[in-house]
Amino acid sequence: MGGGIYGRRGLPNLSRRLFPRDVPAICDCTETGQRVIPGAMKRRFLSAVFLGVALATTALAQDTIKIGEFGSLTGDNASFGISQNNGVQLAVQEINDAGGVLGKKIDLIVEDNQTKQGETTTIVRKLISQDHVIALIGEVASSKSLEAAPIAQASKIPQIATAATNPRVTQTGDYIFRVCFTDDFQAVVIARFVLEKLQKNKIAFMTDVKQDYSVGLTKIAKDYLQNHNAQIVREQSYSSGDKDFRAQLTDIKAANPDVIIITGYYPEAALIAKQARQFGIKATLVGGDGWDGSSLIPVGGKALEGAYFSNHYSNENTSPEVQTFVQKYKKKYNAMPDALAALGYDAAKLLAHAIEQAGAPDPSKIRDAIASTKDFPGVSGKITINSERNATKSAVILVIKDGGVHFAETIEPPKSSAEPPKG
Ligand code: PHE
Repeated sequence: MGGGIYGRRGLPNLSRRLFPRDVPAICDCTETGQRVIPGAMKRRFLSAVFLGVALATTALAQDTIKIGEFGSLTGDNASFGISQNNGVQLAVQEINDAGGVLGKKIDLIVEDNQTKQGETTTIVRKLISQDHVIALIGEVASSKSLEAAPIAQASKIPQIATAATNPRVTQTGDYIFRVCFTDDFQAVVIARFVLEKLQKNKIAFMTDVKQDYSVGLTKIAKDYLQNHNAQIVREQSYSSGDKDFRAQLTDIKAANPDVIIITGYYPEAALIAKQARQFGIKATLVGGDGWDGSSLIPVGGKALEGAYFSNHYSNENTSPEVQTFVQKYKKKYNAMPDALAALGYDAAKLLAHAIEQAGAPDPSKIRDAIASTKDFPGVSGKITINSERNATKSAVILVIKDGGVHFAETIEPPKSSAEPPKG
């Protein structure tokens, strides 16, 4: 399948319908000795009018650049998709208000996977084969991005994942990109923060075995910790959607860890924190970017005080780029942007820039332009797409204090992959 360019089908069929072979353009009625010019002219005139209207309609249809966006807009992780979509919509609005790309407006087609595994396959197929989008933005969760990637790759439609950090996402193929760092970096950021900043080394893990993200993050962090003389005192697992973690926490409590690293998403992390405190577990709770969801604090409440998690962006960053974005976002949505909103915004802006660079709405040229992105000024930081189609970017550590999420520190990526991240 390669029909990524919209409107390829329109014109030939339409012109055939308007000029059917069995209707002569001029009726030459030799029987009456009269050339019935007026009727013929009328028909030609009407045909011309119809063709004009049809061309105008077709041109209108083609006069947009169709981009597909997919995410979890409803269901357990709705916060992920809503934030991503808010960021993308804000960027598209700004791009269109400024004249669009290649002189055309962006037509954003958004699809919801309802946080259901398997649903992304259906919606991404629809975006590519029915809507004929020329590029895809999505998504937040690694598992869902991994579902989309083989389809985008096989169709040769560039996909830009916003916040999916599992290394395998972009390994799917040369049409798959992301605007965030990977868990090879994030896991080491978390592990080093625990060892060097918190100075703790008795560690337990809680892993969501239903999420590629959580499984990968635990594995990489654990490898690093074990190679740096930390003690992994317990490893427990759960599944997305679980509500009762008492069995796992009973076992973890018995091992008396200094830190519990919860590598899953916010709905479960909030409940784990609550139940851990109810059990009298005092360990410091640490997580990854997956904690960044709207119900984390409302559900976890006091149990999360003093917890830390790594992320892509802090809305407390005082740089003018971030603060301008925060103001625009607040004005449009009456809410503070989280990392996913920032990454959605950056993905859409980067894609629009790449389409402009490509010079044509051609997916393969757009792919090449995305691949050569250097120092793109995103609100989540400068984005350079490396040879593995990932973004090399800094991470932040956030702390939960007084019922709010606050910036704690920034960690720069290593200059080369051999070098550890700088704290
Ligand atoms: N990194 C997570 C994943 O790969 C998704 C995520 C990113 C969630 C940022 C929240 C914030 O699945």
